[in-house]
Amino acid sequence: MLIKKPSDILSSEITPRDLYLRRREFLQQATALGLAGTLFPASGALAQPAVPVTEPGKLAKLPGKPSPLSATDKKTPYKDVVTYNNYYEFGTDKAEPAQYAHKLRTRPWSVTIDGEVRNKKPIDIEDLLKLAPMEERVYRMRCVEGWSMVIPWVGYPMAELIKRVEPTAKAKFIGFTTATQPDTMVGLRLPVLEWPYVEGLRMDEAMHPLTILGFGLYGEVLPNQNGAPVRLVAPWKYGFKSIKSIVRITFMESMPKTSWNVAAAHEYGFYSNVNPAVDHPRWSQATERRIGEDGFFQPKRKTLLFNGYADQVAGLYTGMDLKKLF
Ligand code: MTE
Repeated sequence: MLIKKPSDILSSEITPRDLYLRRREFLQQATALGLAGTLFPASGALAQPAVPVTEPGKLAKLPGKPSPLSATDKKTPYKDVVTYNNYYEFGTDKAEPAQYAHKLRTRPWSVTIDGEVRNKKPIDIEDLLKLAPMEERVYRMRCVEGWSMVIPWVGYPMAELIKRVEPTAKAKFIGFTTATQPDTMVGLRLPVLEWPYVEGLRMDEAMHPLTILGFGLYGEVLPNQNGAPVRLVAPWKYGFKSIKSIVRITFMESMPKTSWNVAAAHEYGFYSNVNPAVDHPRWSQATERRIGEDGFFQPKRKTLLFNGYADQVAGLYTGMDLKKLF
């Protein structure tokens, strides 16, 4: 994203994907040999195993009722979803979050609710998990870097939480903050972004039925590298809006700061809606490569306005110039 110059482009982005994955497999097998027997039990596992989770069945189950809002696209294989990540607190290489995020402590965990809201309080993660019925939402996710995935998230609408905490009439935006654990998050030592990672939505975006709090994927709790124990998922926006490992949700009168906008305002706007007609200043956003599906030498597929969710969300932006308010 921001920090990449041609000289920084990661090997994961220039190596044909199948070769790249085999490199990971090789490293994982080597790690597994050294650490065999230290894996955590399959059920109820909260602390995650040191060997990266690369297949379902290793984490606690978290089923969700299938939602009519799910996309029908072919799902991205679990292995790709959990080993090709952006979570800069654990390093900027796509493989690093899977390698290092098992250290993240996800219990005890609570999410502070504050700002322009009547029920200011910390909510324990166990209570947050029980707050509303879990649904499975299969969403297309489009990263600003030009790749996409289709992920079966498990969670419930953000609106369920918002209703219960009773925002005041002044609340027009919501700011989200990721945890900072300097002893587990190796990436915090790098001045890549201002830490903690922060993101935000306008209130009507946060209330939109497509916006969910995600607690799981593929019917299990989130692997740490995907943002355990709770993250945001807003599928019509570039992936960086979907902030991971949330510890604070703040209701605000004015637009919150967002990490990538603070880092490079001319490259990353507050809205960051997927829009093939608005290029990133350093690359086109017209096309994308679907991870696990599109071969490296295959022509890229066309990116759709609002990531294909225009019918549902275009109304949120009526009258706005999406080229200026990108
Ligand atoms: N949240 C935090 N706290 N830190 C990050 O670096 N990366 C973002 C977003 N949320 C990020 C984050 C980006 S750039 C993307 S594309 C998605 O997470 C990736 O989510 P995934 O790894 O589950 O696919």
